[in-house]
Amino acid sequence: MLKKLALTTAVALGLSAGGALAAGGSDAKIENYAFSFEGLTGSFDQNQLQRGLQVYTEICAACHGLKYVSFRNLSDDGGPALPEDQVFAYADEYEVFDAAIDDFRSATPADKFPASALANAPDLSLMAKARAGFHGPAGTGISQLINGMGGPEYIASLLAGYTGEEKEEAGTILYENTAFPGGWISMAPPLYGDDVEFADEDASTELEDIAQDVSAFLMWTAEPKMMARKQAGLTGLIFLSVLSVLLYLTNKRLWAAAKGKKSA
Ligand code: HEC
Repeated sequence: MLKKLALTTAVALGLSAGGALAAGGSDAKIENYAFSFEGLTGSFDQNQLQRGLQVYTEICAACHGLKYVSFRNLSDDGGPALPEDQVFAYADEYEVFDAAIDDFRSATPADKFPASALANAPDLSLMAKARAGFHGPAGTGISQLINGMGGPEYIASLLAGYTGEEKEEAGTILYENTAFPGGWISMAPPLYGDDVEFADEDASTELEDIAQDVSAFLMWTAEPKMMARKQAGLTGLIFLSVLSVLLYLTNKRLWAAAKGKKSA
């Protein structure tokens, strides 16, 4: 009996340790940043998405691609909402390979962002969703609806999570990072603060602020239709509430005669 109990305890402990590992190491620190798009009615902040696009373009794009995102989506309502001429000008800065002419040409809004320039840097299009549920405020169901999915929190924490320590392992330099599972990442700190100059001079260029800007932008690339989805969800919720009240009243009325007889 005692043996069995000990075994069960050991298994339970082992399982919980495994769970913590799967969630990215129990010591990973994810900051619960408040993003404008969290909550039932939250929405993307257009200015923040534009700043995030700028941070991505000037810094992250040197290594990371966004191969699932089309340039033309940059003009979408609910997204960065760039004017169309700016989207043309932005796409024109990129070169894409066109199989039809077997050569490179300037990109147009119909093209997609290039893939990662650096082989071991992952594509960032869907990263904010791929890393959802990483500790912090993440979760499933209602919690996720209210607090957000945790992906952008993870990315912002990662960008702001460097301690300054480095080590070399098998010829690769690793950088200590408090948010990265395992604590050591091969991406050199990409942000230090004051890395970009925004058109809006009042916008903060402090490390944690631009980290949140680019994370918000990456949430948009991963889920560009989030606003429409929330809208539909809310409409559905209201519809179901009204329907419930009507059904309740109908039910009451249908049974009123029968119930009346019984009590009489
Ligand atoms: C000099 C190249 C380089 C730049 C610039 C760079 N990265 Fe990275 N990034 C990498 C590499 C390499 C990895 C893979 C690291 C690893 O798995 O150890 C990576 C990984 C990541 C990851 C995935 C971490 C994970 O959980 O697996 C994210 C998110 C990320 N980078 C975001 C960014 C953002 C945002 C920027 C711009 C602010 C940026 N990176 C700039 C090279 C770069």
